[in-house]
Amino acid sequence: MPRTIFDDAYYQRFYNEDPVHTEQKVAQLATAVDSLCAWWDIPVQSVLDIGAGPGMWRDWYHVHRPHVKVQSIDISEHACKTFGHELLDITAWHPKKSVDLVICHSVLQYLSNAGVSAAIKNISLSCHGVLYIEVPTTSDLEHVVDRKATDLEIHHRTGAWYRKLLSANFQQIGAGLWLSRRARVPLYELEHASK
Ligand SMILES: C[S@@+](CC[C@H](N)C(=O)[O-])C[C@H]1O[C@@H](n2cnc3c(N)ncnc32)[C@H](O)[C@@H]1O
Repeated sequence: MPRTIFDDAYYQRFYNEDPVHTEQKVAQLATAVDSLCAWWDIPVQSVLDIGAGPGMWRDWYHVHRPHVKVQSIDISEHACKTFGHELLDITAWHPKKSVDLVICHSVLQYLSNAGVSAAIKNISLSCHGVLYIEVPTTSDLEHVVDRKATDLEIHHRTGAWYRKLLSANFQQIGAGLWLSRRARVPLYELEHASK
């Protein structure tokens, strides 16, 4: 069963001792995602970082794109106090105004099936541009993830299971990127992964 306590020990273990994502790796990813959004003519002016944890995406935007409005949220009181996020649960909340870029990096694996379903509905309402999502699937857990560095107390679900929920409101591009069906962006056929 997934652990539900996102406390100091959790962040020390997974972000300090043997980090699963470093600031440098997140900086590479954020640079690429932000640049691809610009390539698709979705200049990023507003960002929602869901389950922001140590806040590496938020910090990258503050340093490199200080004009961008970033809202970072987390369900952990500890993370909110320590790293400066708003205490909000994505299964029960979405912003009043949708944003250009939503980040949901390594969060959905902690939610129940019903929780993921509710979260993806709220993510859809939050995003009129691009969604970046990373969540380990059953196959990733067997073949890809570094089992020593990754929290394994999570829900195991297939990629097809997540894809079905996401596809209702997003078109899969690839590399963790999904385009809101509200965005009027004509992608080339081989630029995306699905209809
Ligand atoms: C593995 S950490 C990911 C942190 C950050 N996104 C990253 O990749 O560096 C998972 C985070 O999701 C948060 N979280 C879990 N369930 C959540 C929910 N329902 N709503 C908002 N945040 C949640 C946890 O508190 C934790 O900070």
